[in-house]
Amino acid sequence: MTTSPIETKAMQLLSKMTLDEKLGQLSQTCGAGGHIPQYLVEGIQKGRVSSVINEVDLATVNELQRIAKEESRLGIPLLIGRDVIHGFKTIFPIPLGQAAAWSPELVEKGARIAALESARAGVNWTFAPMIDIARDPRWGRIAESLGEDPFLCSQLGVAMVKGFQSDDLSTNGAIAACAKHFVGYGASESGRDYNTTNIPENELRNVHLQPFYFAAKSGVASFMSSFSDLNGVPASGNQWLLKQILRDEWQYKGLVVSDWESIKELKVHGLSASDKDSARLAAKAGIDIEMQSTCYIDNMKALIDESKIQESEIDSLVLNVLQTKFALGLFDQAYTDLSTLPAYLNHEHLSAAKEAAQKSCVLLQNQSRNGASPILPLNKNDTKRIAVIGPLANDGYEQLGTWVFDGEEQHSISCLSGLKEIVNEGTEIKFEPVFASSRDKDTQQFEKALSITEQADVAILFLGEESILSGEAHCRSNIDLPGAQNELIEYLSQSSTPIVLVILAGRPLTIQPIVNKIDSILYAWHPGTMGGIAIAEILFGDACPSGKLPVTFPRVVGQVPIYYAQKNSGRPAAEWSYVHIDDVPQRAPQTSLGMAATHLDTHFTPLYSFGFGLSYAEFAYHDVNISDNKIVIGESFSVTLKVENKSEIDADEIVQLYIRDLVGSVTRPVKELKGFQRVYVKAKSIVNVNFELHTDDLAFYDINNKLNVEAGDFLLGVGKDSSLELNVAFELIN
Ligand code: NOJ
Repeated sequence: MTTSPIETKAMQLLSKMTLDEKLGQLSQTCGAGGHIPQYLVEGIQKGRVSSVINEVDLATVNELQRIAKEESRLGIPLLIGRDVIHGFKTIFPIPLGQAAAWSPELVEKGARIAALESARAGVNWTFAPMIDIARDPRWGRIAESLGEDPFLCSQLGVAMVKGFQSDDLSTNGAIAACAKHFVGYGASESGRDYNTTNIPENELRNVHLQPFYFAAKSGVASFMSSFSDLNGVPASGNQWLLKQILRDEWQYKGLVVSDWESIKELKVHGLSASDKDSARLAAKAGIDIEMQSTCYIDNMKALIDESKIQESEIDSLVLNVLQTKFALGLFDQAYTDLSTLPAYLNHEHLSAAKEAAQKSCVLLQNQSRNGASPILPLNKNDTKRIAVIGPLANDGYEQLGTWVFDGEEQHSISCLSGLKEIVNEGTEIKFEPVFASSRDKDTQQFEKALSITEQADVAILFLGEESILSGEAHCRSNIDLPGAQNELIEYLSQSSTPIVLVILAGRPLTIQPIVNKIDSILYAWHPGTMGGIAIAEILFGDACPSGKLPVTFPRVVGQVPIYYAQKNSGRPAAEWSYVHIDDVPQRAPQTSLGMAATHLDTHFTPLYSFGFGLSYAEFAYHDVNISDNKIVIGESFSVTLKVENKSEIDADEIVQLYIRDLVGSVTRPVKELKGFQRVYVKAKSIVNVNFELHTDDLAFYDINNKLNVEAGDFLLGVGKDSSLELNVAFELIN
């Protein structure tokens, strides 16, 4: 194998380093927020600090880099890390919201803008994308995920990496991305953060590893090992995962960082007896940089003296760090050059954030309670009095979502301001927050809210969850609308005034109890800086809703985990077999009641399927055709169809292609997404859509956990969401 110029430079530098300096390159420490404590100055001068996390004051960052460059013996620049998750100053929708737009282009653009803005603060490394497959809405970090599906998550994850890194990491304004949390974190038992995961290897490979594999192949600069215990071996000490899969199978050459103190926590897990042993396990697994804790720097020398770790093993960790710094161009330009970076919150950034917020909104319901025509879009001329209700209507902070360290509330356009901006002059808007927060149970303002509802042409409710109810360490066992929000909806439903519910939330909520009490529901996630105007334009028809769910919405929390790509089981749930608890005869003898995989007390389908989302337009799908019904393994094939927009409104539709592999050496999901396209269809017109596929796209990890394409029968379907019927049969042949 040839050595790249960057490898050569890193090796040359390594040859000059003392052991202390090498260990310094494996250590990340926290900034102090706008000043530089003496211990940090000395640490950097002595070459004992490789990376600083959470320092975003530019003058301070430049000074840290200056100390590293000019006052340390070898002048090695610093990696400056920050969680730039969905924007820096211009805040985009939470990642789960961005995923609802099903648009790799938008995700890439959002990450590009986040990179450019954070680079202005000296940041050169972000800890995103989070590409954990998330199938449990109790888990607070579902907000930070790209949803439940490996295919969608892979496509969007790769787009995010590209956005952060651009085509060349050394470009000014490109920052290193980090694929996290490797791996399985999203499967934490009972949706409690940091909890144990048990994932059979085949499931791990076919589902959870897939987005990481594609991120690795796309050139993501770093990986982060998860906090969690994976099948008995916590990820941060898991050699099978970090060595065998990542380095040997995937040939990944980038940097691996631990999660925050996750090396130290190996002891808490019970995998090691001491910090020293934790350091040994993590180094053996191949973690290059230890985030925050100091097990490496405190113990590695002793481990080498005792021959428990070889210096050559340390060298290979250090090389990964140095190569990343060379790839970022930091040796040539460690200081931030503001002259080439666009201003924060500039017009282009804000309009991209608005577009992302708009395209991420999912219209879940648009039926009036009295059976009249759909309430949305509202007509500006007919809507003269509006009741705006709810604690999230005028809260620029809460609409930003989790992981917003650097975004500021004062730049947000709140939903109330968005509405005011867009309605006709003379339209009267009465606002009543009712609650102090989304968790409030105080019903005192219910009467007032009802009164303004009754006087209005429409009531728009802005309910959901505050930002802090989702995100890291904010998991819920009950995912109903919190506080007394259900009661408020029930109370207001006495009025015959049409009610539109806009939900701002970090996760799917169980809204089944209230869907029949209101007319329309728009799910806006936490939409970010431009959320208010983006939503207002949708409500009044200046924009058409086009988002589709990147995750299944359960009816009740007891259905979790519920996801579309489930296995069939030997007794699949079906309408004929479904028996409700009220219909079970009393004192009936034990039977295999219903004989299917169902609950007695809730229907087996979700409230809203993966991929679901309504539009103001009406689409019809025609002429789905496959190029051949017998496809030789190793060849390409295409699927063509027509999408018709029968309405008078120009709109985007997200066309989804699913397959089912009917028989496999291991059982296969009942549906798997294999393609999607966001297509623009003008009113009363038809577009042709074409999907190019290869039989490799149908590969899966087989009974021997080898990636394989198996011959046999398949079904395929293309349509609006994952509840579609698969009605095109084809066969793969050798
Ligand atoms: C812990 C989180 O799990 C991780 O995602 C994040 O990047 C680090 N803390 C750094 O803040």
